[in-house]
Amino acid sequence: MSLDQAALPQSPFALPPAILQRVRRITPDLPGAGGLPPRERRQTEFQAGRDLAAALLAEAGSSITQVGVAPDRAPVWPDGYIGSISHSRVLVAVAVARRQDVRALGIDIEALATEREVEAIESVCMRPEERDVDTGALTRAQFVTLLFSAKEAFYKCMHPLTRVEFDFTDVSITRIDPSRQRLEMRLLRAATPEFGPGHVFHCGYRSAHGHVYTALTLGR
Ligand SMILES: CC(C)(COP(=O)(O)OP(=O)(O)OC[C@H]1O[C@@H](n2cnc3c(N)ncnc32)[C@H](O)[C@@H]1OP(=O)(O)O)[C@@H](O)C(=O)NCCC(=O)NCCS
Repeated sequence: MSLDQAALPQSPFALPPAILQRVRRITPDLPGAGGLPPRERRQTEFQAGRDLAAALLAEAGSSITQVGVAPDRAPVWPDGYIGSISHSRVLVAVAVARRQDVRALGIDIEALATEREVEAIESVCMRPEERDVDTGALTRAQFVTLLFSAKEAFYKCMHPLTRVEFDFTDVSITRIDPSRQRLEMRLLRAATPEFGPGHVFHCGYRSAHGHVYTALTLGR
């Protein structure tokens, strides 16, 4: 497994071409940002996300490349643009689009969960019926990481749009299609008049070098 920049995928997320996307090493000269104390690591992650977002906004044609921070920690994108940011300990990823093309967007990257993390995710984030989903050839750790990541991407996509504080058990993964690398998730609560119980969302996913990449979009 290599995490050299050159080995990282060009288009890590399953996203339409109208959305610019990129993944970068956070600290190429360190053995992962995990070596830093938590506060510095967080600052490094934050800055890496802002730098990558600025590069993509410039590419997308925005004259403003700064991304603000809302009181709820959500990124505040320049007028006319929308995006999403995610980090793991060693990677940062950003996706950016024009608002005229995309209504809502959420991405997430997660390193494959350890045994302890698998148990924590299963007890906090998984619904009983999700244990029965046909996960094909995915290992338990791969499925659980994917489940967690897809729900985080869902939150980043839907929270800015609806202002609803979704909980992990408000959505349920009902189907995984490994051949298309897509999964289906169903909303179980009344969020807004448009997004009620039973509303189905599709999440694209990919896996590379020990990480899962998930993405959700709502088109115009
Ligand atoms: C906000 C949250 C989704 C971040 O996910 P994470 O996997 O912990 O961390 P990531 O590195 O992938 O993402 C962090 C980025 O998310 C973005 N973010 C934070 N709050 C956000 C929000 N309300 N809406 C959209 N994006 C948000 C930020 O850009 C942040 O990075 P930055 O602070 O450097 O700008 C998560 O911490 C959280 O609070 N979740 C709430 C509960 C939840 O997820 N429920 C699932 C419902 S189905």
